[in-house]
Amino acid sequence: MNLEERIAAVEAQIKDAAATTADAVEAFRVDMLGRNGKVTGLLDELKQVPVEQKKLWGQRLNQLKNSAKDRWEELQAGAGTANTSQQEAGDGTRPALTESTGSLHPISIVRQRIVDVFTRIGYTVSQGPEVEDDHHNFGALNFPPDHPARDMQDTFFVRPISCSSEVENANEALALRTHTSSVQVRVMESGKPPIRTISPGRVYRNEAISARAHCMFHQVEGLYVDKGVSFAELKGTLDHFAKSLFGPEVKIRLRPSYFPFTEPSAEVDMSCTICGGGGCAVCKHSGWVEIMGCGMVDPAVLSNCNIDPDIYSGFAFGMGVERIAQLIYRVPDLRLYWENDVRFLDQFTDGAFRG
Ligand code: DAH
Repeated sequence: MNLEERIAAVEAQIKDAAATTADAVEAFRVDMLGRNGKVTGLLDELKQVPVEQKKLWGQRLNQLKNSAKDRWEELQAGAGTANTSQQEAGDGTRPALTESTGSLHPISIVRQRIVDVFTRIGYTVSQGPEVEDDHHNFGALNFPPDHPARDMQDTFFVRPISCSSEVENANEALALRTHTSSVQVRVMESGKPPIRTISPGRVYRNEAISARAHCMFHQVEGLYVDKGVSFAELKGTLDHFAKSLFGPEVKIRLRPSYFPFTEPSAEVDMSCTICGGGGCAVCKHSGWVEIMGCGMVDPAVLSNCNIDPDIYSGFAFGMGVERIAQLIYRVPDLRLYWENDVRFLDQFTDGAFRG
């Protein structure tokens, strides 16, 4: 075959070359343009061409080399290996990806709102452990040794007291705290009055899960201890809280009650925010909904925490965050707060319910 025939043969091979993978494209480049490639070999032959024909054959071979390069580029683009600027720019007609921003859990929103009301009037925020000993959860709070809350039926024990000598070993018991009142004890034990603090946190009770009860929920505990703290101040503080969270038109009322750690004790009702006090299903047609427990810290509790009850007095209160959230958002089923279904959670953004 003369030179022109050999060039034509390679040209045909270049035209027919196919490659779908990056490896095959590279094999084509080596086969044509590599050191021992077919095009390179033909270019080498230019040396043997008579001088007067060099220009002609030079142009012909350059043409061949360029078509090999062009074909290589085409194959690269086809195999998705090319790095052309067009590919880098991407497909401008493709719809943009939507960014989804997370939202705060409704319980976090409500807890924060409660905390804000109290920190604005000088309360600090304190925290305690969720696995608590008997002393902080029960003993120092005046729970008698045979109180039903100390029963496994009501409390999740991590390390139960031994059955043989219950009373002596009571302090060894460890349980998931049943209320945030345990933090009161820790704050009073470690600090001196004046104490003004709130303690938000998770609590646990051995309850069957239903729309109205759950084995874990959230509470906010409040404590104020100083010289001459009165029941009137307790009522004024709680009235301020209810009005701050639910609006100036709401009213509260205190009903006598009993808690081992407060004397006197009361249950706090708020005028129903749903019917405005006229009566509806939420308030069971009474016009009032219960929102928390409260009372004057029992002098025995102050003594248990090394605070002299002859000098100091205090009040305490405790509320369930889910209960307050139910009144704000009107979500009746407690389980929804724990299922974390994004279709539910998505409705609570920027602190406002869009429902
Ligand atoms: N610890 C109580 C509970 O879990 C709530 C409570 C009632 C807290 C009265 C208090 C209080 O501080 O004074 O049901």
